[in-house]
Formats: sequence, structure tokens, C-alpha cells
Amino acid sequence: MTPVTGLPIDRRDGRLKVTGHARYAAEFDIDNLAHAVLVQSTVSRGTIAGFDLAAAKAVPGVLAILTPDNAPHLAPNQSGAPGNVVAFPLLQDNTTDYNGQHIAVVVADTLERAQYAAALVKVSYQEGEAAVRMADALAEAYPPKHFRNGSRPPDSRRGHPDAAWDAAPIRLDLTYTTPVEHHNPMEPHATIALWDSDRLTVYSATQGIDASQHTLATLFGLKPEQVRVICPFVGGGFGCKGVTWPHVALTAMAARQVGRPVKLVLTRAQMYTSNGYRPQTIQHLKIAASPDGHLQGLRHDVLAQMSQPVIGEFAEPAGLISEMLYACPNVAVTHRLVPLNMPLPTFMRAPGEASGSFALESAIDELAAAVKRDPLAVRLANYAESDPHEDKPFSSKSLRQCYAAGAAAFGWARRTPEPGSMRDGDALIGWGMATATYPMNRSKASARVVFEADGGVVVQAATQDIGTGTYTVMAQLAADALRMPIHRVRFELGDSRFPPAPVSGGSQTAASVGSAVLAAVDAARQKLFAMALADNRSPFAGAAGADLALADGFIQMRDAPYRRLSVPGLLARNKLDRFEAVGTAAPGDEKQHYSMHSFGAQFVEVRIDPDLREIRVSRCVGAFAPGRILNAKTARSQAIGGIVFGIGMALLEETAIDPNVGRVTNPNVAEYLMPVNADIPEIQTIFIAEEDRLVNPIGVKGLGELPIVGVAAAIANAVWHATGKRVRDLPIRLDKLLA
Ligand code: MOS
Repeated sequence: MTPVTGLPIDRRDGRLKVTGHARYAAEFDIDNLAHAVLVQSTVSRGTIAGFDLAAAKAVPGVLAILTPDNAPHLAPNQSGAPGNVVAFPLLQDNTTDYNGQHIAVVVADTLERAQYAAALVKVSYQEGEAAVRMADALAEAYPPKHFRNGSRPPDSRRGHPDAAWDAAPIRLDLTYTTPVEHHNPMEPHATIALWDSDRLTVYSATQGIDASQHTLATLFGLKPEQVRVICPFVGGGFGCKGVTWPHVALTAMAARQVGRPVKLVLTRAQMYTSNGYRPQTIQHLKIAASPDGHLQGLRHDVLAQMSQPVIGEFAEPAGLISEMLYACPNVAVTHRLVPLNMPLPTFMRAPGEASGSFALESAIDELAAAVKRDPLAVRLANYAESDPHEDKPFSSKSLRQCYAAGAAAFGWARRTPEPGSMRDGDALIGWGMATATYPMNRSKASARVVFEADGGVVVQAATQDIGTGTYTVMAQLAADALRMPIHRVRFELGDSRFPPAPVSGGSQTAASVGSAVLAAVDAARQKLFAMALADNRSPFAGAAGADLALADGFIQMRDAPYRRLSVPGLLARNKLDRFEAVGTAAPGDEKQHYSMHSFGAQFVEVRIDPDLREIRVSRCVGAFAPGRILNAKTARSQAIGGIVFGIGMALLEETAIDPNVGRVTNPNVAEYLMPVNADIPEIQTIFIAEEDRLVNPIGVKGLGELPIVGVAAAIANAVWHATGKRVRDLPIRLDKLLA
């Protein structure tokens, strides 16, 4: 059987999606469905003095209006598990800590009646003093308490960075800022909740069905098995569907209250208040170097915006990249949070690395200019052969190959160093590059293999396909492990009744669930062999398990494959109509011995109008080394998607917030600017073949986040190269080049 893992197989869910047959959370057809609409705070900080519900209650079809005055008590959700370190506003008290906080839920028999009644809810507030700008709350900055889920302190130091600064001949003191950004997936958040006495079923748009199941169980005082979460398709998440946000629990609360199934879909505007965002950062870098550009000291001090701490905590870990990317003997990194009257921020594609690489990889470019060396040469001069922070070898690192292949494909050697020195007609041409990196993450996961009587195999796990290709690559891995043709293998996901799997975040699904699929196939193989050997009419008389192999749906003797028995035949002889086995795989202690990261190199060309300063990205080359490639087509799609996301981050994306009332003023996809097809040039992707047997049984290091990392810096560096103007504040819009 020719292996299929790695081949550019079409997405298995592609036809369902393009024909509209893929059913998303809001689209499940449920009888007797009622509709919920959220009422949101219109002040940034205050106490609700009272509700006037008379007009809303009088709307025909209104079934219930939940407010802090009548909402049922929920159990606090402080489990400390990833994504659960929250005490969300769930109508449990009458305070409001941000504009847009959910303060009431109106349920009616139709969506329109619920919307109308919600518009008639009158709220009076006692308003308090609010801070919605980082500049107004810098004095309140505090160290994160749950940095990286408590796995490490928010600060680190090696060597003597301040002494290195004092002694260095080349010193750069630079501040970079990034704005609030929102994920904007095509599919809005949506939840349908149904109760059957004390059993809850939810259809919900989520990157973590298992995590949602456990969060809801905690909140409603249920056992996890009393909660079922179903989510076969996700229309994009990028991090904003990684946490079980308040509206999910409020939908379940409403359904219980009215004794009917209830559906709640966030409006596009609510997607800017109700599901997190990439927080604003102020990043201060101090670089000390020798005259030839060797790093002698590096400080990266991060201020990241937060909500009020009572709501939870999310710390954008923007400084971590500065710990490990370059061989520098003296490094200090700090993270501080600035509490604002804003919603809780959250993970957004490469949280930390995307924002942090803008600062670090811009600063390295500034260093290259200061010492008059090529930016790629400066990076190679500071290349880290092993992880300088953890003081461990890398399990694999092909960054040098990424630099070389990317530079060759781009034509980097033809770059002339002086800013403004490259032109095409009138257009100013700028070439910039930057490094990408992202850690390998993996969690415990399980999978089930089911052999059916007709010879087909189904593999199941409670995981998600957030557009990344999970359905496809898991079927490829399973088919190869089973040595079966892929058309006879189906992979099922999206139901919390399947064996547990982690949140699809941190680029960990392929490594985690793929390892579980291999473990499940292994378990199935052992059980089948035992069954075959126990059958004294089987053709394996006198054989042992080690003599047998599973291939093409047959159990056969390794050295005499004609002595074989089909799996359906074996099942029939044992009067079974199906057979299943579950396998579990978890990381071992390999991270204690090796540092595990993906790497890449981004090369970008910009064309800038000399008069209007309009910036167009005209070429991108991304070279990536993320371990083994499971599917050349879905991998390329991931890389393209990440680079497009990075172009948006560099040039367009910014959530605008009214500084007086703390309200998002561009909560729609017309005014929150994102790249459209006309903004995207030809993107060339290169994958460096990498075999890493140390990371996990699959050999993958993760590809979801890596390709966005470095893009914003590469573009900023290209803009500088074209114009001589260094923009340290994202997004780089033309007004910043005119100033
Ligand atoms: Mo990713 S931001 O961990 O979904």
C-alpha cells in the first residue's frame, strides 16, 4: 500500500462546504426553537441601578427576560484549566466592567420579536470612573498571575543585560506598539442549547468541544457526561473560539429557564465585544551589540492591555520570542498587564509571537541598518544553534535552510541596501525579511478505531476541524497506520461523546490527535491479533502476535501473507457486527531534554507610490520548517492563510475604540479593514523537508500559527527599505508615511 500521508489530497469536507451541506452550529434544525438576544451595557464601568422591562415584556412572543435580578446562580468557573481561568460576567451581579458586557438576555418565539423586545429594555446605571486607554492606566500595570497557565513566571533573565547595555558600542532603545485586533472568522459564534431534564446538549461553534463540555458542566453543577457538545464544522476561529465565552452559558441558562431549546447567534458587531481580541501592546526593546552586529544584550519589556482582573486574565506573551530566537548572552524579558474597562482579551493567531516578532524582528532590522550589514547576515551572525534560554538542543531546527531557500526564491542577493535605492518606474520598491518561529505544543488525546462489518473503518476523536484539514490529515494518518486505502477510512470529530481531545489552539491538533490515532490503531491491531490467535480455526495455528500483520483489511502472517483472514470474516466468526479499540497518547518527558519549535523565514516586497505613499505588497515568499508535512495542499493553504493574516496585521487591521465611552467604533467588516483578494499578491510557499523523531510520534511541529509570525516585521522592514521611514506602530497606513 503506497502511503498517503504527505500527499496533496483534497479536503474531505470541501464538497460539503462549497455545496452548503456542511452544517454549522446555527444551522441545526431543532423543533420548537426559541431565540435569545443579548442586551449589552452601554457604559464602561458602573452599577446597574435598575431595569425597566415593561415595554419589552409586552412584546408578543416574549418568553423570558433574564437579568441579574432573576438569573439562576451558577458555580464560579475557576478551574485553572486552559481557557477556564475566568469568572465571566454571567448575570451574577449588577456591576458592569466594560461597554458591551452582557447584562440581560431576552428570549422570544422568533428572532425578530426577541430583537425588538431587547431594543425596548431600559437600563439605568450609576456610572463610575473608567479607564479605556492604556495611557490612562499605566500606573496600574501588574505582573500576570497565570502566565502561560501558571507554567512559568512572566519575567526571565539570563546574564547581565543592563551591564551589557552600559558597555556596548552599539545601542538601540526602541518602542513598538500594536493595536487591538479582532479575529473576524466568517462564521459568527452561535449556540443552540437543549435540556432533557438534567442533561444538556449544545450545538456550538467552538475550537474545543471537550473544554466547552467541562466548562458548562462546572457552571451548571453537572457531571461532564451530562453535557454533550456537538460541532462538526467551524467556520474559522483563529483563537476566538478557544474559550467558552459567556454567551454559550447564557444560552444554556435561557433554555433551562423557558423549558425549550434556545438559539443564540452573536451579531457581527457582538463579535467585537463578546469573544476576546488580540490586546494592544507597548513593547520596549533595548538592543546592545558589537559594531559588526553581534548581540551583546537584549531587553524586551512588554505592556499588554487587559480587562479588569475580576473577569479573568489573558497575558499576550510577546516577549517570549526574544528569549529563544537569537544567541545572546544577556537577555531580560518582562510582561506587565494594564487593566482597562475593556472585555477580556484572548488568544489570536500566534498570540505573543505575532505581536512580539513585529517588535523583535523590526529591531533586528534597525540593528542591521545601524551596523550597515545585510539584515539576513545579522540574523545568521546571531543564529542560535541550541535554545539559549532553556539551554537545550533543539529537537530539529532548519532555520538556516529556510533563510537560504527563501532568499534564493526571492532573489534577496539583488537587494541594494540604501533606503529608497530600488525603484520600478516611479514606484519605490522595498525588500524586507523577518524570522518566524512558534513552539511545538501537544496535549494528551484519545481516539477510537471502529471496524465495521462491511470492512470499512471509522476513526473518532472529540476534536475539531477549524478549517485546518483535521478531517483529511487524520484520515491519511489512519489509512497509513491501518495499511488500508483511504477511501475505506472515515474520520469523525465534533462530538464530545467521542474520546477526549484538547482545544484546537496553539497549533497542537495534528501532533496531539495524530498521536492518539496511531495509538488507537495500535490498540486495535493488538486486540484483533489476540482475537485471531484465540480462534483455533483461523489460519494462524501456532503463530504469535509478533508473526501477524494488518494490511488492507486482512490479518495475515508477516512472512506468508497468503495465510490470511479478513477482519469482517473474523468479526463474523465471533458474532460481532463491529469491533472497536481506544488508544491514548500523551507527551512524555521529551520537552525536558529538547526545545521544540517550528521556524520559518518571510521575504516581502512592497511597492509604494512616491506621492500618495499608498503601500502595496507585491511579492511574498515564506519558507517554513514545521516538521513533517501531513498534506502538501492543506499545509500550503495554512501558510497562505497565515501570510494573508500577517499582511492584514501589518497594513490594515485595527479595532478603533472611542476613548470616552470605551465602545468599538468599527464593529463590522466594512470599517475593520482586512485584506481582500485585490490586496494579496502572489504568495510563494516553500517547505523544508524535516524529519523530527523527537517531538512526537507523528513528527509534526505545528503549522497553524507559524506562517503569520514575522510577516508584519518583514513588511515594516520593506517599508523602511523603500522610504527610509521606520514605522513602529501597527498598522502601517499611508498617513504614517506622510507624517
Ligand atoms: Mo490559536 S490563537 O491558539 O487558536
